[in-house]
Amino acid sequence: MTATVEPTSPAPATPSVLSTRGLTKSFGGVHAVRDVSVGFLEGKVNGLIGPNGSGKTTFFNMVTGMIKPDSGEVMQGERSITRWAPHRIARLGIGRSFQLCRVFPRLTVLENLLVAVRPTSLASALLGAHHAPTVARAREILARVGIEHLEHAEARDISYGQQKLLELGGVLMADPRIIMLDEPAGGVNPALIERIATLIRELNAEGRTFIVVEHNMDLVMNLCDHIVVFDRGRPIAAGVPAEIQSDPAVLEAYLGV
Ligand SMILES: Nc1ncnc2c1ncn2[C@@H]1O[C@H](COP(=O)(O)OP(=O)(O)OP(=O)(O)O)[C@@H](O)[C@H]1O
Ligand SMILES: [Mg+2]
Repeated sequence: MTATVEPTSPAPATPSVLSTRGLTKSFGGVHAVRDVSVGFLEGKVNGLIGPNGSGKTTFFNMVTGMIKPDSGEVMQGERSITRWAPHRIARLGIGRSFQLCRVFPRLTVLENLLVAVRPTSLASALLGAHHAPTVARAREILARVGIEHLEHAEARDISYGQQKLLELGGVLMADPRIIMLDEPAGGVNPALIERIATLIRELNAEGRTFIVVEHNMDLVMNLCDHIVVFDRGRPIAAGVPAEIQSDPAVLEAYLGV
């Protein structure tokens, strides 16, 4: 792959589960995302990388309906989901985490998972907290992400890495088929990064598709099947990790060489 190669759509044999066409967003004079047409592969761990400010989070926010694009389309398979409300997109089985971890600090770890299933109403979620099957499922997920021993702790009292695991647990409560993670390893200690990586691999082996934004290159290169690289709001490369690592345009974007 060379610097001039446009990021390609995936080969026809591997359909895009989620894709964009000409997606664009400016904030005042800042062109955060510019005419982005990319596809993410079903059943794979897709990476989305790029220097700070290259538009990754803005792109995630548009795909998940949290901000409206100026122009362009978001497609799930053949269906346009452009400008759909976030809860409607979530109901399609698309879950996400946030770059700055979002948990309710004064709720317990278990309560955080119980409210995750009813994001429209905190009060009704807590009223329904004793719904036995939901509690059982929440406990199962806490065990899955490895923080079941913290069930009764308030979220503000657990480590940042544990909060990231808790947030991932909240995403899993909705049983999404596509999981978008914005910097899952950011600010997390190495032992927990390994646990997060293992979890992503296991969940992917169950057939869940991942789209992962991440700055930790070791993690990205080990974890991802396919990577798209953004620079200044535009995709500049796409390919398997080995291609990305040796791509002159990528080196230039990161190192300015
Ligand atoms: N709400 C906003 N208002 C104004 N400018 C914004 C807003 N959100 C993002 N931007 C700008 O858009 C550009 C892209 O930002 P974005 O957060 O999408 O980048 P990123 O690739 O996620 O960066 P990082 O790796 O640091 O998280 C940046 O120049 C940023 O300052
Ligand atoms: Mg970001």
